[in-house]
Amino acid sequence: MGGESRARYEPLVELARGGMGTVYLARCVAPGQPDGIVVMKRLHAHLSDDAEFVGMLRDEARIASRIRHPNVVPLLNFVDIDAHPTLIQEYVESCTLASLLGAMRRESTPAPRGILSRILCDALDGLDAAHDAKDDHGRPLSVVHRDASPQNILVGVDGRSRVIDFGIAKAEDRQTTTRVGVLKGKAGYVAPEQILDHPVDRRADVFAIGIALHEGVSGRRLFDGDAVAVTLRRILEHDICPPSSRAPGVAQSLDALVLTALAHDPRARFASARAFREALEAEIPPSSREAVAALVRYYGASELARRRDLLAGAVADEGDADDTVVDARTVKLVLERRRAAVTGSVVLMGLIFASALALQGSASQRAAGAAFGAPKAGVSTPTTSPPTVPIP
Ligand SMILES: Nc1ncnc2c1ncn2[C@@H]1O[C@H](COP(=O)(O)OP(=O)(O)OP(=O)(O)O)[C@@H](O)[C@H]1O
Ligand SMILES: [Mg+2]
Repeated sequence: MGGESRARYEPLVELARGGMGTVYLARCVAPGQPDGIVVMKRLHAHLSDDAEFVGMLRDEARIASRIRHPNVVPLLNFVDIDAHPTLIQEYVESCTLASLLGAMRRESTPAPRGILSRILCDALDGLDAAHDAKDDHGRPLSVVHRDASPQNILVGVDGRSRVIDFGIAKAEDRQTTTRVGVLKGKAGYVAPEQILDHPVDRRADVFAIGIALHEGVSGRRLFDGDAVAVTLRRILEHDICPPSSRAPGVAQSLDALVLTALAHDPRARFASARAFREALEAEIPPSSREAVAALVRYYGASELARRRDLLAGAVADEGDADDTVVDARTVKLVLERRRAAVTGSVVLMGLIFASALALQGSASQRAAGAAFGAPKAGVSTPTTSPPTVPIP
């Protein structure tokens, strides 16, 4: 599939490990293009030969490849690397909504409502695009994410939020079924019909975002400390309090909105993610993306720093260790140096310029980023829309 298929991907560092596979930060080396940082998701080695798990990863790739929306992390490629089927996605410098809400809870600070609204409106827009995804013939795929929990919402340092992880999503052309009797989704965010293994549609994702909204508004987990079985029973019994019973200053109209999203009967919920988004936007005018970005940088500082350290460490380990490796821009600098050794002094001048800028404040940081973004120099995250990825 064109240029992307000739790209090489080298895992740099582990980002997260789940039951099925591992997510890595990886370098993308493509002829004629600057090296890029991407995210690589692949099955654990012992599952790579298991047709069922390979099929599930392929389904994830197939579903993700159908969704092109600014609020959904784009799939860049689906390739075999050393006989391991591997999903390649755009890297988003971000924190999960789960970690942001967790950081605010630890400080007993409620999420600023306008910012919460902006994040969840973005997520609902991304989910709406997924729900409306179509196959090559224009037929609806009836995608349902089924795990639209805060762990699967990335809040970017650019202030934009994106949905990830269509690993257990349902779709018409899904070729594997998740096992009967195995709950799909995170216990604290699953809709009653998911627990009962009844047919699910887009309104199950409305329910999951409803829980996230409840938790953001009240500053507390809805089912905190409960065992999984207790959580599931409480959802089935619809033991859900209004947010106003947990947080001061919640208007009746906001209570009503949250409880509509969380209605036990899907027919009483918002009919679509879009309808939920419109109601939320009217109830809590969303803040600017700049405000979201500031919040991510503040409450996500340690997670962002951890990733930058991992990345910097991985690059330094490759033989160019340097005490000054402290952040993403410097990682680029290290990689750039290696290229500079080959391509000569013009690039080196740019590096010196960028290093000087890197010592200055945040406005200068953007300038430094722009300097590193110069064509054919350094590592960048792909920003252009990826091509449609045909998944067999
Ligand atoms: N494109 C991305 N950019 C940045 N970080 C990402 C990206 N994709 C995934 N991550 C990080 O990796 C974590 C795991 O990713 P993902 O949810 O896709 O995998 P998973 O194995 O299905 O996880 P889980 O089973 O916990 O849901 C995310 O919570 C996020 O922190
Ligand atoms: Mg996940």
